[in-house]
Amino acid sequence: MRLAATWLLLLLLGCSQPDKPYQWALPQGFPEPIVPNDNPMSEAKVALGRVLFYDRNLSFNKTQACASCHQQAFAFAQPAKVATGSTGQLHRRNSLALVNVAYNTTLTWAHPELTRIEQQLLIPLFAEHPLEMGISGHDQEVLARFDSADYRPLFNAAFGDEVPSYDGIVKALASFVRSLVSFDSAFDHYAYQMQDDALSESAKRGMALFFSEQLECHHCHGGINFSQASRHAGQLLQIRQFHNTGLYNEDGKGMYPASDMGLYEITGQGVDMGHFRAPTLRNIARSAPYMHDGSLPTLEAVLDFYAAGGRGAGIDSPVKSVFMRGFTLSVEQKQDLLAFLHSLTDENFLTKEEFAHP
Ligand code: HEC
Ligand code: HEC
Repeated sequence: MRLAATWLLLLLLGCSQPDKPYQWALPQGFPEPIVPNDNPMSEAKVALGRVLFYDRNLSFNKTQACASCHQQAFAFAQPAKVATGSTGQLHRRNSLALVNVAYNTTLTWAHPELTRIEQQLLIPLFAEHPLEMGISGHDQEVLARFDSADYRPLFNAAFGDEVPSYDGIVKALASFVRSLVSFDSAFDHYAYQMQDDALSESAKRGMALFFSEQLECHHCHGGINFSQASRHAGQLLQIRQFHNTGLYNEDGKGMYPASDMGLYEITGQGVDMGHFRAPTLRNIARSAPYMHDGSLPTLEAVLDFYAAGGRGAGIDSPVKSVFMRGFTLSVEQKQDLLAFLHSLTDENFLTKEEFAHP
């Protein structure tokens, strides 16, 4: 009798155990990302987030899921200059790749205060200008779609409550986005797993160029994520993450087009004109077109842009970064640099079952 009671107690305790600790798919020795205390990672939340990420019911007119603009084969970016919302409204910006977002200090192309994925996600879900998924004004109708036989067990496993809520939806989506980590490229095999033959000789020469003082790429695209806008557990220093790369110079004083002035729009400070976040270069060969407005179609065009020290009048911009000095590359050196950028592609990430449409 006594024994049976103990068993029952254990069983009950077992049931109310939150969830087993989340296992990051990180290579040995890699630092874990920093996760907010009020939304710890769990397998159940990631599983729910994955289903939601691919579900078109999350847009009011049922035409668009997160995955419409963030497609796995393209490093969770989209092969389009700029994004198009669920009602056909054009977004002014290029869909960002979702690669190691969990490590990003700030989110989107240029926003110093958007630091939590939970906060950022409200934009595609609810914003009206530009309209992306268009839930605003239809909150209850959209939410009711998730009170279904398919979703109830998923919400229950994730939050111990089968009733869907936007709080739960956002937490689960953020957890899925955090789970999208990519550290399994040929470059990683070479740099962190001591596989000397993982990189071709050409890619090795390209790597040396990338990290050279002549090209300066690493000053803005440095660290484990090839983006200074990264942070992780145990990190001491945070480095400036927004830069003006001389893409535009409308007035001879470095002004960007009124349609998008980057960080300046948020801070109102002249020094922030045309400043954008240097994004990660992991899987960069897959996320064309490039830059915040998708205005450079290929990696070759990006290299020509850096070699010229900017574009058009932007080359003479008085406010572009001091690292945008320009340089000359031979045809072979350009191929080498391209080979290096291609070595940052992580095929496993781009095809992984756990990230795909469930
Ligand atoms: C209409 C296309 C579109 C849809 C739908 C969309 N996004 Fe995005 N996403 C974008 C664009 C464009 C940006 C860059 C926005 C900016 O810089 O202002 C972005 C940025 C992001 C970022 C920031 C990444 C970073 O590195 O800073 C995250 C995270 C994200 N989206 C996740 C999601 C999730 C989750 C959903 C579904 C709820 C979603 N997005 C729906 C187009 C879209
Ligand atoms: C001054 C800092 C800085 C330097 C130096 C720099 N970058 Fe960038 N990089 C950025 C910023 C900022 C962006 C985004 C600019 C924008 O969208 O307006 C960017 C964008 C890119 C992109 C497109 C990313 C995307 O997702 O669209 C690639 C590719 C790239 N850089 C490669 C390089 C290479 C290769 C070098 C060296 C030749 C280099 N960068 C040097 C800051 C820099």
